[in-house]
Amino acid sequence: MPSDALKAVVTSALLMVDIDPWSSQVSTDYGRIIEQFGLESIPVAQLPNPSMHHRRGIIFAHRDLSNILQAHSRGEPFGVMTGLMPSGKMHLGHKMVIDQVRWFQEQGADVTIAVADLEANATRGYNLADCRNIALEEYVSNYVAMGLDPEKTNIYFQSRRSVVQKMGFTLGKRTNLSELEAIYGFKGETNLAHVQAPLVQAGDILHPQLDEYGGLRPIVVPVGVDQDPHLRLCRGLAGKTNWFNVNMRKNTGLRITVSVMDENQHIVAGDKATKKQVFSDIVDELRKLGYSDILADAKHGIVDLPAATGKDRYPIRMALLKLERRMGGPGLLQPSSTYHQFAVGMTGGKMSSSMPETTIFLTEDLKKMEKKFKRSFSGGQATVEEHRRLGGNPDIDVAFQYLKFFFEENDSTLEEIRRGYVSGNILSGELKAMTIEKATDWLNELAELRDQNSHLVSEFIAKDSL
Ligand code: TRP
Repeated sequence: MPSDALKAVVTSALLMVDIDPWSSQVSTDYGRIIEQFGLESIPVAQLPNPSMHHRRGIIFAHRDLSNILQAHSRGEPFGVMTGLMPSGKMHLGHKMVIDQVRWFQEQGADVTIAVADLEANATRGYNLADCRNIALEEYVSNYVAMGLDPEKTNIYFQSRRSVVQKMGFTLGKRTNLSELEAIYGFKGETNLAHVQAPLVQAGDILHPQLDEYGGLRPIVVPVGVDQDPHLRLCRGLAGKTNWFNVNMRKNTGLRITVSVMDENQHIVAGDKATKKQVFSDIVDELRKLGYSDILADAKHGIVDLPAATGKDRYPIRMALLKLERRMGGPGLLQPSSTYHQFAVGMTGGKMSSSMPETTIFLTEDLKKMEKKFKRSFSGGQATVEEHRRLGGNPDIDVAFQYLKFFFEENDSTLEEIRRGYVSGNILSGELKAMTIEKATDWLNELAELRDQNSHLVSEFIAKDSL
């Protein structure tokens, strides 16, 4: 039986229309989230070297991950992006995101990490100097210890990278208060720094595509579902800047439509000759990609490719974004994203850094860690006799869940433990002892790596943010 706290979260999620990324409540109904937000399931079989989070269905959904997979299989560059609010101590929830960043890095991604000091200032009231200290001492030192490669990792502060703020500002033109109200539930009394934070975050996510930050390439943002509102906003903003849209046609094939906006109307809706040139440029790009059946209808601003299929979308998009850039447009690809489930908090409710008893910090004292597991929510029976007879429930057992989410890499070992627990052979106390042992090894190793690699911290920080 789930705890009352968990039940309350699930029930409130069923009533909730939107997820608020700053709230401490989180939905756990993942099937419904996929449907409601129009996400896709992770194609585990298509992933190169799937991680334990993929194999176990913990990373359960995505948007446009195929862009990343296609870039990867073509040997083209791609990047991974994440951000952190430096507001407290890093805990197991953060480890999960960094594990994913490292996985993408191992598959060839470059890494950009935003220290969201402006957001922490706007939404949590932290001053920028404190943010800086917390970020360096607590966050960056743990990134280093968790194995990110300094050569391929670029960490910057929002307050120091003016192009991010500039993009946040200019992207603001593509949205309005009503949309932000609909996405985030902002009200008349919401302060404007809070309204700006998601726009700056869109700048975080999109700016790695600028020429001076690596150029046009797909960027993936691994997040928990609570962050999806930011992704939806950012994808919408990027999409609205696109001069050329590539979509499935009603029956078969792909359709390219030209968007006329203030910035490009003198080109794409200019005089006849200019407009004709735009269409012949589009057709040239498509020919270069190997298409011969191309139906260009300049009058209606449409180019059809009857023989193209869904997987052709990515190379066509990339070619047209490059063309857009040559014509003077921003040429921004909508970001990809992946979504992971949340591990249950140690007391059975939500994991939150503001409730230390619900999680393990990356610098946690071993004795305290042990105590937290000993007190943690258990899926075992009330007495040993009952447990031997009925078995435990690993789905709600914190010790088991933490092996699954964080500490046991080996699938068959995990499965053995699960069976032992379900059958009643393994008692709750024994399961907790196993998890404590694993967690001890992990915390010890992390502490060692933090010490050994502390000299690398400054190598991770971008020049503009040193
Ligand atoms: N909003 C994120 C948080 O609450 C932090 C963040 C800022 C971020 N910029 C980002 C996350 C870009 C992912 C990508 O922690």
